[in-house]
Amino acid sequence: MKKFIIVAVSLGLFLVGCKQTEKDTKDTESSVVEIDSINYEELGMEYAFATKAVLGKNLMGTIKDKGVNAAVEFCNIQAYPLTDSMSVVYNAQIKRVSDKPRNPDNQASSKELEYIASFKNTIANNEEVKPILEKNKEDVNFYYPITTNTMCLQCHGSPYKELDEEAYKTIKALYPKDLAIGYNDNEVRGIWRVNFKKE
Ligand code: HEC
Repeated sequence: MKKFIIVAVSLGLFLVGCKQTEKDTKDTESSVVEIDSINYEELGMEYAFATKAVLGKNLMGTIKDKGVNAAVEFCNIQAYPLTDSMSVVYNAQIKRVSDKPRNPDNQASSKELEYIASFKNTIANNEEVKPILEKNKEDVNFYYPITTNTMCLQCHGSPYKELDEEAYKTIKALYPKDLAIGYNDNEVRGIWRVNFKKE
């Protein structure tokens, strides 16, 4: 017998403030999709970009209202809950990992380090970036690079240059083992990992 799963496509993902996520049930459509026909590449992209949008919107709002230093603390407290809340909305585990993590819990595994190296190559050679899909028996993993823009350098750039003294002090106090500095624009800062369970 073929397996079917219900994919609920939440069209009206609605976010209020930093912590609250609300599904707009009125706009939720359900459709039945055959498991092997699921386009994990497309879904992974959608989930990673939606999560990026939520993090980015909250981050930029905090920088604008309260400054970079307060935004460091915001990231420290909210990066995980916000990412996790998106995991709940999408029923897939969404995580950011890096070869040079700020938070040691975001250290990439040896396999993920290889993927990061490969994405760095692709971007350095100006080739088209395609997600990596790992199809296992029970789950599917999706990987896609997270690249920097100039905004990121306020917290991931070079100390006393883009990264000002106060923000750098706060970062050091919160993350004594921080490795996530010294980046330039358009560099691979890490990767998205979206884990889909095939049940
Ligand atoms: C206001 C400061 C700030 C800005 C701006 C900022 N970040 Fe971060 N970033 C942090 C902090 C703090 C953490 C650690 C969060 C945690 O504890 O989970 C972090 C963590 C990360 C991580 C998870 C891996 C790790 O190192 O722990 C990635 C990936 C990342 N940032 C990418 C970016 C990108 C890309 C941008 C720009 C689009 C950006 N950040 C802008 C402060 C910032």
